Amino acid sequence: MGLQAAMQSHLALHFCFIPMERISLASKKLPTANYKGTRDFYPEDMQFRNWMFSKMETVAESYGYGKYDSPLLESIDLYRAKTGEEIVQKQLYDFIDKGERHVAIRPEMTPSLARMVAARSRELPKPIRWYSIPNLWRYEAPGKGRLREHWQLNVDIFGVNTYRAEVEILQMACDILFAFGAPAESFAVKVSDRRVLNSFFSNTLQLAEDKAQPLAKLLDKRNKISSEEFEKELQGILPDCEKQKPVVMQYLDCSLETIVQIPGIDEKAIADLQFLFTELKSLGVEAQVDFDPSIIRGFDYYTGFIFEIFDTDPENRRSLYGGGRYDNLIGLFSNDQLSGIGFGLGDVTLENFLRTHGLVPEQLGKTHKVFMPLLAEENFAASMQLAKKLRERGVICETMLEGKPKLGKQFAIAEKKGYRYLAILGEDEIQKNTVTLKDLVSGEQSEYKQDEVAEIILGK
Ligand code: HAM
Repeated sequence: MGLQAAMQSHLALHFCFIPMERISLASKKLPTANYKGTRDFYPEDMQFRNWMFSKMETVAESYGYGKYDSPLLESIDLYRAKTGEEIVQKQLYDFIDKGERHVAIRPEMTPSLARMVAARSRELPKPIRWYSIPNLWRYEAPGKGRLREHWQLNVDIFGVNTYRAEVEILQMACDILFAFGAPAESFAVKVSDRRVLNSFFSNTLQLAEDKAQPLAKLLDKRNKISSEEFEKELQGILPDCEKQKPVVMQYLDCSLETIVQIPGIDEKAIADLQFLFTELKSLGVEAQVDFDPSIIRGFDYYTGFIFEIFDTDPENRRSLYGGGRYDNLIGLFSNDQLSGIGFGLGDVTLENFLRTHGLVPEQLGKTHKVFMPLLAEENFAASMQLAKKLRERGVICETMLEGKPKLGKQFAIAEKKGYRYLAILGEDEIQKNTVTLKDLVSGEQSEYKQDEVAEIILGK
C-alpha cells in the first residue's frame, strides 16, 4: 500500500467511528431541564428530603422495623402477576436488556419485598418487620401529587394472621404524621376489606368474575369521573342495572353499623373491622379512622384489609398512604404461606401535606454551622487548623480556600448559604490563639479562645 493510500485508510478508520449525532451535539448545548415528571434535588432540597425521611425512619425503627433495599430493575414477570392492569399496561418503564431479558424499573416495592422475603421465608424470625424508602417509577401524567419518579416509605409486617397487625400498621401510619406535628383533624384514614367487597360482588350482586373486575375498577375511579360517565359504565357492567344500581349505591354509602343490613356480606371481615375500631379507640387514634366501602385499591394482590389516608385539606386530593393485606404474594415464589400487610407513603403527597399545614420548620439543620472567611492568603494554614479542631469537636465547618472575593462578599456568601456563625481569624486573633465569632442571627460578635469556641457554637 502506498503512503497516500495508507494515510487515507487510517483517516477513514478514525472518522468512521465518530457518530454523526456526536458531531452535531458538540455545537448544540444540551438542555439543563430534567426529565418530565422527575425532580432534581439540590442541596437545600436534599436537606428537606433527609429531614422528612429521618422522621419516618425514627418512627419505623421505634416499632422494631429493620431497613431493607432491593435493585431498581426487576424481571417484568414480577409485576405482570399481581401489580394490576393499569400500572402494567400503561405505567411501567420496561425494556429488553442486552441479554434479551424483559426487565422493568420498579413501579412499587411490594413485589420486590415479597421476592426477598420468599427467598428466606423459612429462616427469618417471625413476625418479619421491615421498612424501606425506595424511589419508584410510573409513567403517569404529572400533576399535583403525581410524578413519574417518587420516593415511597414502605412498611410491611409478615407472619401475623390476625387483625392485630392491622392495628399496629394503622397506629404507625398515624404516628408518622403525629411525629411531624400533624393535628388529628388534618388527615382522615379510610378503611375497608377486600372480603367485604368480594362478598358483596359474589353473594349480594351475584356477579360473575368477568363482571366483578370491571366493577371494582369503576368504583375505584368513581371520584375521578363525572356521574354521567359513572352511570354509563355501570349500565355496561351490571346485568340488571335498574335493580342492581340502587344496591350498589346503598353499599357505597354504608357505615360499619349499616353494612350488616346488606345480605351476603362477609361476617368475619366485619367482625375484624369492629375489632380494629375497638383497639384503635384504646390507642387514641380511632377519631381519624372511618370505614369506607368505596375504598377499593388498584392492586390485584390485596386479599383482606385495605386502607388509604387522605389530607383533609381539599387542596391535596391525592392519597397520602395506600396499603393493605396480601395473603398470596409469597406464593408467587414458593409453596410457603406467609401473609403480609403494609403501606406505602409517598414523598410528594407528604410534602404537599406538610407545607399546606405549616409543618415544615424554617430552620432545617442550619444551626451549629460555622463559615470561616479567609481574610488574607497567609492565614490559610491557621484557618485550616482551626477548622480541623472544630470538626473534631463535632462542629460543621466550611472554610474559604482563597482570600477572594473581598471580605464583605465572603460574609454575604455565608449568609446566602444559611450559616449561623462566622468564625473570623485575623492577624490579631492568630497571634493570641483566639477567634472572633459573629452570630448571624442575633448580630452579636465576641472573641473566644480557639479551644473554647466549639462549646460556644454547640451551645454547651
Ligand atoms: P400505592 O397506593 O400505589 O400503593 O402508593 C402508595 C402511595 O404512594 C400513594 O398513596 C401516594 O402517596 C404515593 N404515590 C403513588 N404513586 C405516585 C406517583 N406517581 N407520584 C407521587 N406519589 C405517588 C403501593 O404502591 C403499594 N405497593 C403500597 C403497599 C405496601 N401495600 C402494601 N405494602
